[in-house]
Amino acid sequence: MLATAGSAIGLGNIWKLPYMIGVNGGSAFVIVFIACIFFVGIPLMMTEILLGRRAQKNPLDGVAALAAEAGVCSWWKVIGGMGMITGLLILGFYSVIGGWVLNFITQSASGNFVGITAAQSTGNFEQLLASPLTLLFWHSIFMCLTMGVVAHGVNSGLEKANNILIPALFAILLILLGYSMSVGNMVAAYDFMFSLDFSKITPVAVLSALGHAFFSLSLGMGSVMVYGSYLQRNVSIARTTIYIALADTLLGLLVGLAIYSLVFANQLAPNAGPGLIFQTLPIAFGHMPGGSLIATLFFMLVAFAAWTSAISLVEPAIAWVVENTRVSRKQTCVALGLAVWLLGVAVLLSFNDWQHIKIVFGLNIFESLDKLTSTILLPMGGLLMAIFAGYFMRKEHVQEELHLSDSAFKLWRYTNNYIAPVGIAAVFLYLFGLVQ
Ligand code: PHE
Repeated sequence: MLATAGSAIGLGNIWKLPYMIGVNGGSAFVIVFIACIFFVGIPLMMTEILLGRRAQKNPLDGVAALAAEAGVCSWWKVIGGMGMITGLLILGFYSVIGGWVLNFITQSASGNFVGITAAQSTGNFEQLLASPLTLLFWHSIFMCLTMGVVAHGVNSGLEKANNILIPALFAILLILLGYSMSVGNMVAAYDFMFSLDFSKITPVAVLSALGHAFFSLSLGMGSVMVYGSYLQRNVSIARTTIYIALADTLLGLLVGLAIYSLVFANQLAPNAGPGLIFQTLPIAFGHMPGGSLIATLFFMLVAFAAWTSAISLVEPAIAWVVENTRVSRKQTCVALGLAVWLLGVAVLLSFNDWQHIKIVFGLNIFESLDKLTSTILLPMGGLLMAIFAGYFMRKEHVQEELHLSDSAFKLWRYTNNYIAPVGIAAVFLYLFGLVQ
Protein backbone atom coordinates (compact mmCIF):
# COMPACT_ATOMS: atom_id res chain seq x y z
CA MET A 1 0.00 0.00 0.00
CA LEU A 2 2.85 2.36 0.84
CA ALA A 3 4.49 1.57 -2.46
CA THR A 4 1.30 2.36 -4.36
CA ALA A 5 0.93 5.63 -2.47
CA GLY A 6 4.58 6.36 -3.28
CA SER A 7 3.90 5.71 -6.94
CA ALA A 8 0.77 7.85 -7.04
CA ILE A 9 2.15 10.83 -5.15
CA GLY A 10 4.77 12.55 -7.23
CA LEU A 11 5.37 15.30 -9.73
CA GLY A 12 1.83 14.76 -11.00
CA ASN A 13 0.46 16.36 -7.85
CA ILE A 14 3.05 18.99 -7.20
CA TRP A 15 4.28 20.07 -10.60
CA LYS A 16 1.67 19.00 -13.14
CA LEU A 17 -1.75 19.48 -11.56
CA PRO A 18 -1.17 23.15 -10.63
CA TYR A 19 -0.11 24.19 -14.12
CA MET A 20 -2.77 22.09 -15.83
CA ILE A 21 -5.40 23.89 -13.78
CA GLY A 22 -4.09 27.21 -15.06
CA VAL A 23 -3.71 26.17 -18.67
CA ASN A 24 -7.20 24.65 -18.76
CA GLY A 25 -9.20 27.51 -17.33
CA GLY A 26 -9.18 26.92 -13.56
CA SER A 27 -12.31 25.63 -11.87
CA ALA A 28 -13.75 24.01 -15.00
CA PHE A 29 -10.75 21.71 -15.05
CA VAL A 30 -10.79 21.10 -11.30
CA ILE A 31 -14.42 20.00 -11.26
CA VAL A 32 -14.01 17.58 -14.13
CA PHE A 33 -10.75 16.29 -12.64
CA ILE A 34 -12.43 15.51 -9.30
CA ALA A 35 -15.32 13.82 -11.10
CA CYS A 36 -12.84 11.72 -13.11
CA ILE A 37 -11.05 10.67 -9.92
CA PHE A 38 -14.31 9.48 -8.36
CA PHE A 39 -16.05 7.91 -11.33
CA VAL A 40 -13.09 6.59 -13.28
CA GLY A 41 -9.95 6.72 -11.14
CA ILE A 42 -11.20 4.99 -8.00
CA PRO A 43 -13.02 2.08 -9.69
CA LEU A 44 -10.17 1.53 -12.12
CA MET A 45 -7.56 1.62 -9.40
CA MET A 46 -9.50 -1.15 -7.68
CA THR A 47 -9.58 -3.03 -10.98
CA GLU A 48 -5.85 -2.66 -11.54
CA ILE A 49 -4.99 -3.77 -8.01
CA LEU A 50 -7.28 -6.79 -8.26
CA LEU A 51 -5.72 -7.83 -11.57
CA GLY A 52 -2.25 -7.60 -10.02
CA ARG A 53 -3.12 -9.43 -6.85
CA ARG A 54 -4.84 -12.25 -8.67
CA ALA A 55 -2.09 -12.64 -11.28
CA GLN A 56 0.94 -12.40 -8.97
CA LYS A 57 3.18 -11.69 -11.98
CA ASN A 58 4.51 -8.84 -14.09
CA PRO A 59 1.69 -7.10 -16.03
CA LEU A 60 2.26 -8.80 -19.39
CA ASP A 61 2.48 -12.39 -18.14
CA GLY A 62 -0.04 -11.56 -15.45
CA VAL A 63 -2.78 -10.59 -17.87
CA ALA A 64 -1.90 -13.60 -20.03
CA ALA A 65 -2.34 -15.86 -16.98
CA LEU A 66 -5.64 -14.24 -16.10
CA ALA A 67 -6.84 -14.60 -19.69
CA ALA A 68 -5.96 -18.30 -19.51
CA GLU A 69 -7.84 -18.62 -16.22
CA ALA A 70 -10.89 -16.98 -17.80
CA GLY A 71 -10.52 -19.09 -20.95
CA VAL A 72 -10.23 -16.11 -23.30
CA CYS A 73 -7.73 -15.05 -25.95
CA SER A 74 -4.23 -14.46 -24.61
CA TRP A 75 -3.93 -11.29 -26.69
CA TRP A 76 -5.25 -9.37 -23.72
CA LYS A 77 -1.64 -9.32 -22.65
CA VAL A 78 -1.13 -6.32 -24.95
CA ILE A 79 -2.39 -4.36 -21.94
CA GLY A 80 0.83 -5.28 -20.15
CA GLY A 81 3.06 -4.70 -23.17
CA MET A 82 1.56 -1.31 -23.90
CA GLY A 83 1.91 -0.36 -20.25
CA MET A 84 5.62 -1.16 -20.16
CA ILE A 85 6.27 1.09 -23.13
CA THR A 86 4.07 3.85 -21.73
CA GLY A 87 6.00 3.79 -18.46
CA LEU A 88 9.32 4.22 -20.27
CA LEU A 89 7.94 7.06 -22.41
CA ILE A 90 6.64 8.88 -19.33
CA LEU A 91 9.95 8.45 -17.54
CA GLY A 92 11.65 10.14 -20.49
CA PHE A 93 10.16 13.49 -19.49
CA TYR A 94 9.53 12.73 -15.82
CA SER A 95 13.25 12.44 -15.25
CA VAL A 96 13.91 15.83 -16.83
CA ILE A 97 11.42 17.50 -14.50
CA GLY A 98 12.84 15.47 -11.59
CA GLY A 99 16.15 17.07 -12.59
CA TRP A 100 14.62 20.56 -12.26
CA VAL A 101 13.60 19.64 -8.72
CA LEU A 102 17.12 18.46 -7.86
CA ASN A 103 18.51 21.72 -9.23
CA PHE A 104 16.06 23.66 -7.06
CA ILE A 105 17.29 21.80 -3.95
CA THR A 106 20.78 23.18 -4.52
CA GLN A 107 19.47 26.63 -5.39
CA SER A 108 17.40 26.74 -2.19
CA ALA A 109 20.24 25.47 -0.05
CA SER A 110 22.61 28.09 -1.39
CA GLY A 111 20.18 30.87 -0.53
CA ASN A 112 19.48 31.84 -4.15
CA PHE A 113 15.87 32.66 -3.47
CA VAL A 114 16.34 35.04 -0.54
CA GLY A 115 14.41 38.25 -1.25
CA ILE A 116 13.72 37.23 -4.86
CA THR A 117 11.13 39.24 -6.83
CA ALA A 118 8.56 37.75 -9.19
CA ALA A 119 10.48 38.94 -12.25
CA GLN A 120 13.78 37.59 -10.91
CA SER A 121 12.20 34.24 -10.15
CA THR A 122 10.82 33.92 -13.67
CA GLY A 123 14.22 34.93 -15.05
CA ASN A 124 15.96 32.38 -12.84
CA PHE A 125 13.79 29.56 -14.19
CA GLU A 126 14.13 30.70 -17.79
CA GLN A 127 17.88 30.69 -17.34
CA LEU A 128 17.74 27.07 -16.19
CA LEU A 129 15.64 26.09 -19.21
CA ALA A 130 18.07 27.84 -21.52
CA SER A 131 21.06 25.80 -20.35
CA PRO A 132 20.97 22.32 -21.89
CA LEU A 133 24.11 21.24 -20.06
CA THR A 134 22.70 22.03 -16.62
CA LEU A 135 19.46 20.24 -17.54
CA LEU A 136 21.46 17.31 -18.84
CA PHE A 137 23.48 17.10 -15.65
CA TRP A 138 20.42 16.95 -13.39
CA HIS A 139 18.44 14.67 -15.67
CA SER A 140 21.40 12.26 -15.63
CA ILE A 141 21.58 12.33 -11.83
CA PHE A 142 17.85 11.67 -11.56
CA MET A 143 18.07 8.72 -13.97
CA CYS A 144 21.03 7.26 -12.06
CA LEU A 145 19.16 7.54 -8.77
CA THR A 146 16.12 5.83 -10.26
CA MET A 147 17.91 3.03 -12.06
CA GLY A 148 20.27 2.55 -9.11
CA VAL A 149 17.38 1.58 -6.87
CA VAL A 150 15.65 -0.51 -9.51
CA ALA A 151 18.87 -2.40 -10.25
CA HIS A 152 18.90 -3.59 -6.65
CA GLY A 153 15.29 -4.81 -6.72
CA VAL A 154 12.30 -2.81 -5.48
CA ASN A 155 13.76 -1.29 -2.42
CA SER A 156 11.69 -1.99 0.64
CA GLY A 157 13.63 0.59 2.64
CA LEU A 158 12.46 3.28 0.28
CA GLU A 159 8.88 2.12 0.66
CA LYS A 160 9.12 2.28 4.43
CA ALA A 161 10.53 5.78 4.15
CA ASN A 162 7.23 6.76 2.48
CA ASN A 163 5.66 6.25 5.87
CA ILE A 164 7.46 9.29 7.22
CA LEU A 165 8.16 11.28 4.11
CA ILE A 166 4.63 11.51 2.69
CA PRO A 167 3.23 12.93 5.96
CA ALA A 168 6.28 15.23 6.06
CA LEU A 169 5.42 16.46 2.59
CA PHE A 170 1.86 17.19 3.74
CA ALA A 171 3.18 19.00 6.82
CA ILE A 172 5.53 21.25 4.91
CA LEU A 173 2.80 21.95 2.42
CA LEU A 174 0.56 23.14 5.23
CA ILE A 175 3.30 25.57 6.29
CA LEU A 176 3.49 26.81 2.71
CA LEU A 177 -0.28 27.06 2.50
CA GLY A 178 -0.42 29.01 5.75
CA TYR A 179 2.19 31.41 4.47
CA SER A 180 0.48 31.80 1.10
CA MET A 181 -2.76 32.44 2.90
CA SER A 182 -1.25 35.25 4.94
CA VAL A 183 0.65 37.04 2.17
CA GLY A 184 -1.04 35.83 -0.99
CA ASN A 185 -4.49 36.21 -2.45
CA MET A 186 -6.25 33.10 -1.19
CA VAL A 187 -9.70 34.42 -2.08
CA ALA A 188 -8.78 34.82 -5.72
CA ALA A 189 -7.07 31.42 -5.70
CA TYR A 190 -10.14 29.75 -4.22
CA ASP A 191 -12.38 31.47 -6.69
CA PHE A 192 -10.16 30.53 -9.61
CA MET A 193 -10.05 26.87 -8.59
CA PHE A 194 -13.50 26.20 -7.21
CA SER A 195 -16.10 28.69 -8.49
CA LEU A 196 -18.76 26.64 -10.20
CA ASP A 197 -18.98 27.84 -13.75
CA PHE A 198 -19.95 25.01 -16.03
CA SER A 199 -19.92 27.27 -19.06
CA LYS A 200 -16.12 27.24 -18.99
CA ILE A 201 -15.86 23.48 -19.40
CA THR A 202 -14.37 22.77 -22.82
CA PRO A 203 -13.76 19.40 -24.50
CA VAL A 204 -10.02 19.96 -24.21
CA ALA A 205 -10.35 20.53 -20.46
CA VAL A 206 -12.33 17.29 -20.11
CA LEU A 207 -9.75 15.36 -22.08
CA SER A 208 -6.86 16.79 -20.07
CA ALA A 209 -8.65 16.20 -16.77
CA LEU A 210 -9.35 12.57 -17.60
CA GLY A 211 -5.76 12.03 -18.69
CA HIS A 212 -4.47 13.68 -15.57
CA ALA A 213 -6.65 11.51 -13.31
CA PHE A 214 -4.84 8.51 -14.82
CA PHE A 215 -1.43 10.13 -14.57
CA SER A 216 -1.90 11.27 -11.01
CA LEU A 217 -3.09 7.90 -9.73
CA SER A 218 -0.47 6.03 -11.82
CA LEU A 219 -3.24 4.12 -13.59
CA GLY A 220 -3.42 2.36 -16.92
CA MET A 221 0.17 1.18 -17.35
CA GLY A 222 0.74 -1.65 -14.90
CA SER A 223 2.56 0.07 -12.03
CA VAL A 224 -0.41 -0.41 -9.77
CA MET A 225 -0.72 -3.97 -10.99
CA VAL A 226 2.88 -4.70 -9.99
CA TYR A 227 2.29 -3.30 -6.53
CA GLY A 228 -1.11 -5.00 -6.35
CA SER A 229 0.71 -8.29 -6.77
CA TYR A 230 2.59 -7.57 -3.53
CA LEU A 231 -0.56 -6.68 -1.60
CA GLN A 232 -1.41 -9.23 1.10
CA ARG A 233 -4.60 -11.23 0.70
CA ASN A 234 -6.26 -9.85 3.82
CA VAL A 235 -5.91 -6.17 2.87
CA SER A 236 -9.05 -4.51 1.52
CA ILE A 237 -8.55 -3.28 -2.03
CA ALA A 238 -11.40 -0.78 -1.76
CA ARG A 239 -10.11 0.84 1.42
CA THR A 240 -6.53 1.00 0.13
CA THR A 241 -7.73 2.62 -3.08
CA ILE A 242 -9.89 5.21 -1.37
CA TYR A 243 -7.14 6.30 1.02
CA ILE A 244 -4.61 6.65 -1.77
CA ALA A 245 -6.95 8.44 -4.16
CA LEU A 246 -8.09 10.91 -1.52
CA ALA A 247 -4.58 11.67 -0.25
CA ASP A 248 -3.30 12.04 -3.80
CA THR A 249 -6.08 14.40 -4.88
CA LEU A 250 -6.01 16.45 -1.70
CA LEU A 251 -2.27 16.96 -1.95
CA GLY A 252 -2.53 18.21 -5.51
CA LEU A 253 -5.37 20.61 -4.73
CA LEU A 254 -3.56 22.03 -1.69
CA VAL A 255 -0.47 22.71 -3.78
CA GLY A 256 -2.74 24.37 -6.33
CA LEU A 257 -4.26 26.67 -3.71
CA ALA A 258 -0.85 27.66 -2.36
CA ILE A 259 0.46 28.36 -5.86
CA TYR A 260 -2.52 30.37 -7.15
CA SER A 261 -2.65 32.44 -4.03
CA LEU A 262 0.91 33.55 -4.86
CA VAL A 263 0.19 33.85 -8.58
CA PHE A 264 -2.65 36.32 -8.04
CA ALA A 265 -0.86 38.31 -5.34
CA ASN A 266 2.16 38.77 -7.63
CA GLN A 267 0.26 39.41 -10.86
CA LEU A 268 1.77 36.35 -12.50
CA ALA A 269 0.11 34.48 -15.34
CA PRO A 270 -1.94 31.47 -14.20
CA ASN A 271 -1.35 29.82 -17.56
CA ALA A 272 2.44 29.96 -17.42
CA GLY A 273 2.68 26.22 -18.21
CA PRO A 274 5.17 23.64 -16.95
CA GLY A 275 7.37 26.20 -15.18
CA LEU A 276 4.58 27.46 -12.93
CA ILE A 277 5.65 26.07 -9.56
CA PHE A 278 9.31 26.75 -10.27
CA GLN A 279 8.52 30.40 -10.89
CA THR A 280 6.10 31.00 -8.03
CA LEU A 281 7.39 28.96 -5.10
CA PRO A 282 10.78 30.73 -4.84
CA ILE A 283 8.90 34.00 -4.27
CA ALA A 284 7.20 32.54 -1.20
CA PHE A 285 10.26 30.75 0.10
CA GLY A 286 12.42 33.79 -0.57
CA HIS A 287 10.40 35.95 1.79
CA MET A 288 9.35 33.70 4.65
CA PRO A 289 11.46 33.39 7.79
CA GLY A 290 13.77 30.38 7.51
CA GLY A 291 12.73 30.19 3.86
CA SER A 292 15.95 28.70 2.49
CA LEU A 293 15.79 25.81 4.93
CA ILE A 294 12.09 25.20 4.34
CA ALA A 295 12.58 25.41 0.57
CA THR A 296 15.46 22.94 0.71
CA LEU A 297 13.35 20.50 2.72
CA PHE A 298 10.36 21.04 0.45
CA PHE A 299 12.25 20.32 -2.78
CA MET A 300 13.98 17.34 -1.14
CA LEU A 301 10.61 15.85 -0.28
CA VAL A 302 9.31 16.54 -3.78
CA ALA A 303 12.42 14.86 -5.22
CA PHE A 304 11.79 11.87 -3.00
CA ALA A 305 8.16 11.67 -4.12
CA ALA A 306 9.27 11.93 -7.76
CA TRP A 307 11.90 9.24 -7.21
CA THR A 308 9.42 6.66 -5.87
CA SER A 309 7.06 7.40 -8.77
CA ALA A 310 9.87 7.11 -11.30
CA ILE A 311 10.82 3.71 -9.93
CA SER A 312 7.27 2.50 -10.44
CA LEU A 313 7.36 3.71 -14.05
CA VAL A 314 10.16 1.31 -15.03
CA GLU A 315 9.37 -1.57 -12.72
CA PRO A 316 6.85 -3.33 -15.03
CA ALA A 317 9.29 -3.39 -17.97
CA ILE A 318 12.22 -4.51 -15.83
CA ALA A 319 10.19 -7.24 -14.12
CA TRP A 320 9.07 -8.57 -17.48
CA VAL A 321 12.58 -8.72 -18.98
CA VAL A 322 14.07 -10.29 -15.87
CA GLU A 323 11.33 -12.91 -15.56
CA ASN A 324 11.42 -13.85 -19.26
CA THR A 325 15.01 -13.66 -20.40
CA ARG A 326 18.44 -14.60 -19.13
CA VAL A 327 19.49 -10.97 -18.99
CA SER A 328 20.30 -9.93 -15.43
CA ARG A 329 18.43 -7.22 -13.60
CA LYS A 330 21.48 -4.95 -13.60
CA GLN A 331 22.07 -5.31 -17.34
CA THR A 332 18.40 -4.66 -18.05
CA CYS A 333 18.56 -1.53 -15.94
CA VAL A 334 21.60 -0.24 -17.79
CA ALA A 335 20.07 -0.90 -21.22
CA LEU A 336 16.60 0.48 -20.52
CA GLY A 337 18.07 3.28 -18.44
CA LEU A 338 20.22 4.39 -21.35
CA ALA A 339 17.29 4.32 -23.76
CA VAL A 340 15.14 6.42 -21.45
CA TRP A 341 18.06 8.75 -20.73
CA LEU A 342 18.44 9.40 -24.47
CA LEU A 343 14.74 10.13 -24.78
CA GLY A 344 15.16 12.55 -21.89
CA VAL A 345 17.96 14.31 -23.74
CA ALA A 346 15.57 14.98 -26.62
CA VAL A 347 12.99 16.22 -24.13
CA LEU A 348 15.35 18.61 -22.39
CA LEU A 349 16.50 20.00 -25.73
CA SER A 350 12.87 20.69 -26.58
CA PHE A 351 12.93 23.39 -23.90
CA ASN A 352 15.73 25.25 -25.69
CA ASP A 353 17.68 24.33 -28.86
CA TRP A 354 14.99 22.05 -30.27
CA GLN A 355 12.08 24.26 -29.22
CA HIS A 356 11.04 24.76 -32.82
CA ILE A 357 10.85 21.02 -33.61
CA LYS A 358 7.19 20.12 -33.66
CA ILE A 359 6.09 16.50 -33.69
CA VAL A 360 2.30 16.49 -33.99
CA PHE A 361 -0.39 19.20 -33.84
CA GLY A 362 2.27 21.86 -33.38
CA LEU A 363 3.48 20.27 -30.13
CA ASN A 364 7.17 20.06 -29.28
CA ILE A 365 8.87 16.85 -28.13
CA PHE A 366 8.03 17.26 -24.45
CA GLU A 367 4.41 18.23 -25.13
CA SER A 368 3.90 15.42 -27.63
CA LEU A 369 5.21 12.78 -25.23
CA ASP A 370 3.14 14.15 -22.40
CA LYS A 371 -0.08 14.29 -24.43
CA LEU A 372 0.47 10.91 -26.07
CA THR A 373 0.95 9.17 -22.74
CA SER A 374 -1.55 11.00 -20.53
CA THR A 375 -4.42 11.50 -22.91
CA ILE A 376 -4.12 8.40 -25.08
CA LEU A 377 -1.99 5.55 -23.76
CA LEU A 378 -2.96 5.62 -20.06
CA PRO A 379 -6.73 5.94 -20.64
CA MET A 380 -6.50 3.27 -23.36
CA GLY A 381 -4.75 0.92 -20.92
CA GLY A 382 -7.40 1.68 -18.29
CA LEU A 383 -10.22 1.08 -20.76
CA LEU A 384 -8.84 -2.33 -21.73
CA MET A 385 -8.33 -3.32 -18.08
CA ALA A 386 -11.90 -2.30 -17.22
CA ILE A 387 -13.33 -4.30 -20.11
CA PHE A 388 -11.17 -7.31 -19.35
CA ALA A 389 -12.04 -7.42 -15.65
CA GLY A 390 -15.68 -6.46 -16.16
CA TYR A 391 -16.66 -8.57 -19.14
CA PHE A 392 -14.12 -11.36 -19.52
CA MET A 393 -13.03 -12.44 -16.04
CA ARG A 394 -15.34 -14.64 -14.04
CA LYS A 395 -17.44 -12.55 -11.67
CA GLU A 396 -16.66 -14.87 -8.74
CA HIS A 397 -12.95 -14.44 -9.27
CA VAL A 398 -13.26 -10.68 -9.26
CA GLN A 399 -15.39 -10.74 -6.13
CA GLU A 400 -12.91 -13.10 -4.48
CA GLU A 401 -10.27 -10.38 -4.80
CA LEU A 402 -12.43 -7.38 -4.06
CA HIS A 403 -14.31 -9.07 -1.29
CA LEU A 404 -17.02 -6.41 -1.14
CA SER A 405 -20.53 -6.39 0.25
CA ASP A 406 -23.22 -7.04 -2.39
CA SER A 407 -24.15 -3.41 -2.80
CA ALA A 408 -20.55 -2.20 -2.91
CA PHE A 409 -19.73 -4.86 -5.49
CA LYS A 410 -22.66 -3.73 -7.61
CA LEU A 411 -21.45 -0.16 -7.37
CA TRP A 412 -17.94 -1.16 -8.47
CA ARG A 413 -19.33 -3.22 -11.35
CA TYR A 414 -21.57 -0.43 -12.48
CA THR A 415 -18.77 2.13 -12.56
CA ASN A 416 -16.17 -0.29 -13.96
CA ASN A 417 -18.41 -1.80 -16.61
CA TYR A 418 -20.42 1.20 -17.73
CA ILE A 419 -19.46 4.62 -16.45
CA ALA A 420 -15.68 4.42 -16.81
CA PRO A 421 -15.53 2.71 -20.23
CA VAL A 422 -18.27 4.86 -21.72
CA GLY A 423 -16.61 8.00 -20.36
CA ILE A 424 -13.20 7.08 -21.73
CA ALA A 425 -14.62 5.92 -25.06
CA ALA A 426 -16.57 9.17 -25.43
CA VAL A 427 -13.40 11.16 -24.91
CA PHE A 428 -11.56 9.06 -27.50
CA LEU A 429 -14.35 9.43 -30.04
CA TYR A 430 -14.13 13.16 -29.60
CA LEU A 431 -10.35 13.11 -29.77
CA PHE A 432 -10.30 11.27 -33.06
CA GLY A 433 -12.86 13.66 -34.45
CA LEU A 434 -15.58 11.05 -34.73
CA VAL A 435 -18.06 13.09 -32.71
CA GLN A 436 -18.17 16.81 -32.26
N1 PHE B 1 1.43 9.23 -10.46
C1 PHE B 1 2.75 9.73 -10.64
C2 PHE B 1 2.74 11.21 -10.25
O1 PHE B 1 1.71 11.74 -9.96
C3 PHE B 1 3.27 9.54 -12.04
C4 PHE B 1 3.08 8.17 -12.57
C5 PHE B 1 2.23 7.96 -13.66
C6 PHE B 1 3.71 7.07 -11.99
C7 PHE B 1 1.99 6.69 -14.16
C8 PHE B 1 3.50 5.79 -12.47
C9 PHE B 1 2.63 5.61 -13.54
O2 PHE B 1 3.75 11.84 -10.25
